[in-house]
Amino acid sequence: MQNFNYNIPTKIFFGKGQIEQLGSNLKDISKNVLLVYGGGSIKKNGLYDKVVSQLESAGIEWKELSGVEPNPKIESVREGIKICRENGIGAVLAVGGGSTIDCAKIIASGTCYDGDPWEQVVDSNKITKALPVVSVLTLSATGSEMDGFAVISDMEKNEKWGTGNDVTKPVFSILDPEYTYTVSARQTAAGTADIMSHTFENYFNQEKGAYLQARFCEGILKTCIKYAPVAVKTPDNYEARANLMWASSMAINGVCSYGENTAWAVHPMEHELSAFYDITHGVGLAILTPYWMEYVLNEDTVWKFVEYGKNVWNIQDGSDMEIAKKAIDRTKEFFASIGLPSTLSEININNEHFDIMAQKAADCGLKFGFIPLDKNDVKKIFEMAL
Ligand code: NZQ
Ligand code: ZN
Repeated sequence: MQNFNYNIPTKIFFGKGQIEQLGSNLKDISKNVLLVYGGGSIKKNGLYDKVVSQLESAGIEWKELSGVEPNPKIESVREGIKICRENGIGAVLAVGGGSTIDCAKIIASGTCYDGDPWEQVVDSNKITKALPVVSVLTLSATGSEMDGFAVISDMEKNEKWGTGNDVTKPVFSILDPEYTYTVSARQTAAGTADIMSHTFENYFNQEKGAYLQARFCEGILKTCIKYAPVAVKTPDNYEARANLMWASSMAINGVCSYGENTAWAVHPMEHELSAFYDITHGVGLAILTPYWMEYVLNEDTVWKFVEYGKNVWNIQDGSDMEIAKKAIDRTKEFFASIGLPSTLSEININNEHFDIMAQKAADCGLKFGFIPLDKNDVKKIFEMAL
């Protein structure tokens, strides 16, 4: 296990009714906040009214930025920064899924930055200061509620990049699984694929001594496999929603990656799909992951797939290679069983932009991955996924 510095400062209020913590905790941070949310789901499920009531009773003034898009766009970030500056806003409150929280984070950092916020998106070193960020999570997926990352798109340039810093980690996040009851079956499935992909990105690395982290990862994967089908079928099953919600935070907050050299592979590839086709992040991950697994499986990497097959899928019989291949098949079948597509053509993606997409993904550090990948490797994986 390698050296690491543990730093997970986000306070979590988890469970039913925890929205009651919002006003009293937020007023100590700022009495003047920007409330950021998406396309209206929080108005339909009543969360908006609860948030407003918390702000009012705590004597907190607020301005609003609504309509943050899935795969949040840089234009929304710029709009939020303008509101913050014009109104002397002291904190950013995100109520929504990962897109809303990510947008809030770069509004928070961009308000404290003299240049255009896109500069902070392409160069995380330019994020040195941010307004405090607070979140109320409504979708179990990205882990943005407990990490410092933000992923922002500029569709005019077909670019989608991840950025972030410790200063953009939320000060506190409220995680009430009941607010995820209204998440559609498709978003529930996509969110689960995202949680699993974060876990895979951490799990598939060459570090053999981080035994504990590997077992954490397997626990998260088993949790997703057990509870996603329940939540897809029975959206108001509290136990399922609660386990998926905590899995979302744990997959990416650092506990699974400390002590290892992790270099993510499938995420950079998926970000290119989203950058060119604006697709749902988790859907792209579910399609690409099994093909990436097939591509990187070889005599040197098989040991890790055997661990995965035995510990997660309980596949005990067969040669190492057979166990590994069965585990990959089970992964693909699982995603299909919760309603996710298995090929790019199912979501109308063809090979038109594969060259440029593969180049851009490869430039995102793929040579440091579980096994090093270059542009041609990525292109082959895209082609396998067609
Ligand atoms: O916009 P509203 O109306 O709220 O509807 C949203 C949106 O249409 C809806 N939704 C959210 N909560 C709901 C709900 N609908 C009903 N009931 C609820 N309780 O779901 C749709 C998708 O929301 P979005 O926030 O886009 O989904 P997600 O949480 O999956 O976020 C995806 C974004 O996060 C980035 C992705 O790339 C993508 O841009 N990521 C962020 C990461 C991070 N910050 O660490 C890491 C991830 O790997 C990922 O890249
Ligand atoms: Zn992700």
